[in-house]
Amino acid sequence: MSQISRTVLCVDDEPNILEGLKRQLVRSGHQVFTAVGPQAGLHTLRQQGPFAVVIADYQMPGMTGSEFLREVRRISPDTVTMMLTGCADLEVAVAALHEGQIFRFLNKPCSRDVLVTAVQQALEQYRLIVSERALTHALAQANEELNRLNRDLEDRVRERTAAINRLYHFVSELSGLDSLENVGDLVVRTVADLLDSRRVSLMIPDPSGEYLTILAACGIDPELKDRIRVPVGSPIAGSAFAECRNIVVNEPDPVGLPTTRYDSEFFAVVPLVSSVLLTSGSAVGVLNVTEPRSGAAYGQEALAKLKAIAESAAVAIQNQIRLYERNEARDAVILAMAKLAENRDPETGAHLERVQTYCRLLSRVLAASSRYASQIDEEFVSAIVRSSPLHDIGKVGIPDAILLKPGRLTPDEFEIMKTHTTIGGDTIRGLLEQRPRQGFLRMGMEIAYCHHEKFDGSGYPKGLVGDQIPLSARILALADVYDALTSRRVYKAAMSHQEAAAVIRDGCGQHFDPDIVEAFCQEETRFQQTAIDLQDESSPRDPVESAPRSGVAPRATCRPAAS
Ligand code: C2E
Ligand code: SIN
Ligand code: SIN
Ligand code: FE
Ligand code: FE
Repeated sequence: MSQISRTVLCVDDEPNILEGLKRQLVRSGHQVFTAVGPQAGLHTLRQQGPFAVVIADYQMPGMTGSEFLREVRRISPDTVTMMLTGCADLEVAVAALHEGQIFRFLNKPCSRDVLVTAVQQALEQYRLIVSERALTHALAQANEELNRLNRDLEDRVRERTAAINRLYHFVSELSGLDSLENVGDLVVRTVADLLDSRRVSLMIPDPSGEYLTILAACGIDPELKDRIRVPVGSPIAGSAFAECRNIVVNEPDPVGLPTTRYDSEFFAVVPLVSSVLLTSGSAVGVLNVTEPRSGAAYGQEALAKLKAIAESAAVAIQNQIRLYERNEARDAVILAMAKLAENRDPETGAHLERVQTYCRLLSRVLAASSRYASQIDEEFVSAIVRSSPLHDIGKVGIPDAILLKPGRLTPDEFEIMKTHTTIGGDTIRGLLEQRPRQGFLRMGMEIAYCHHEKFDGSGYPKGLVGDQIPLSARILALADVYDALTSRRVYKAAMSHQEAAAVIRDGCGQHFDPDIVEAFCQEETRFQQTAIDLQDESSPRDPVESAPRSGVAPRATCRPAAS
């Protein structure tokens, strides 16, 4: 205990009593102050206090001992107070004692032993009070600290849990997306949400690889979004991309950070982060984040979240780009193959495109019927649309003399003509063997082989019957014939829609699958409209609507041998 705790103040209006008290206490090793009368006592208290123990006489002029000690406790609440009383004051003493405020009453005169023991007990009491107070204070502080820690912990746990949940959903959603735009939107929404920021953009390089353009953004004027092109290598996003690093700017006006048009419009305020999206060491894009709602700098926590998003986003974007390139390459291959055949058959023009449309129309109607719902889904529709241009690629193997012959084919010529199905099918089979994973080629092969098979088994090359003919080829057969009928060929004029539709209905169950003829009947209007919308421009349709139809006889009647 400090010096103070051993300090005693004695107050009495009789100086010799004070002297007696002081002498006895000093001899017992206490530090003692004395004051004559209550006013001097309060003065000493203010000047020298606080004291551990204050002893006051009850009978003093101007103020009773009770009043004086009450004032002492008001000034220094921990001080232990004792009172000296004569016998006459006993009643007062008992009352005061019951109030529990005065520690001990000493009778005047009191022996040295009683005095010293009482003072020692009072000092002990004082130590208790002081240490209890310190303890309570420490406890309160510890409690406060603990509560604060708990609150922080709860907040952080809650925040982390929410962040982890959000990331989990992000990743699972990401894997289900099927376009670059959708991936971009999800990435941007997730970043805005997790980093609680108003402006987020995702940039990817344009085809030239020289500029970054915005794939997806939030908090940015859509007009600005489309206009922004950041040269690769220029600040800020362009540098992050070119140097494969993250750029974090939390301080305003960073030295040596040149501003560009892009920066002033887009990265107008700090803090900001440009985070590069890396897969296997190469940059696929940049995530820009700015305007945090809190206004606070982006710290460790925010950057860790951004890193988690950037990693999965990079993979997803890379996958989408590859998928897109693969689809592009595939479509280009199909078209190149198909054109190869078509180029030699100048009158077919937009034939491929119309046949695609007819296949789509028929597939969709069939998909809606319970009978075909399990066989035809969107994937089937897109596969038949993609692969239908391949049906006649075998025509590349047919000599010009036959393919481009203006008149009717002889039976021998027609036998050669028929081989376009097997030539085409075999060609695609060869491709498929080299690239077994190119599933879309499988349907192309079915179609090439089987598009001249007829439902009743009278077609070629194999004479397959009914369900033996792949569904894709049954659909294409109708689409192909409708288009051949309504188009002009080197060897024939075009028919009107009504005539063509009659030929199709005639062929129901013989040439064509009745279900598919029914689908055609449902969509007749759209077939007719497609024939008009996509008619060949370079070689206009035969003026069937205006000219007399006498010269154009349906071939089914003039060449029954071919059926
Ligand atoms: P394409 O011109 O694309 O005709 C495809 C199919 O449409 C024909 O298959 C046939 O089933 C149908 N089709 C076309 N025009 C008529 C028609 O006037 N009446 C009827 N009822 N059906 C018609 P097909 O017969 O197996 O012929 C396959 C390909 O052989 C034709 O493809 C065409 O390139 C060629 N071809 C067929 N007949 C002749 C012909 O008389 N002269 C010439 N130069 N080529 C022909
Ligand atoms: C093949 O010959 O396997 C291709 C035609 C088909 O799948 O029916
Ligand atoms: C096949 O199944 O091999 C194709 C059938 C056909 O060419 O008609
Ligand atoms: Fe054909
Ligand atoms: Fe065709």
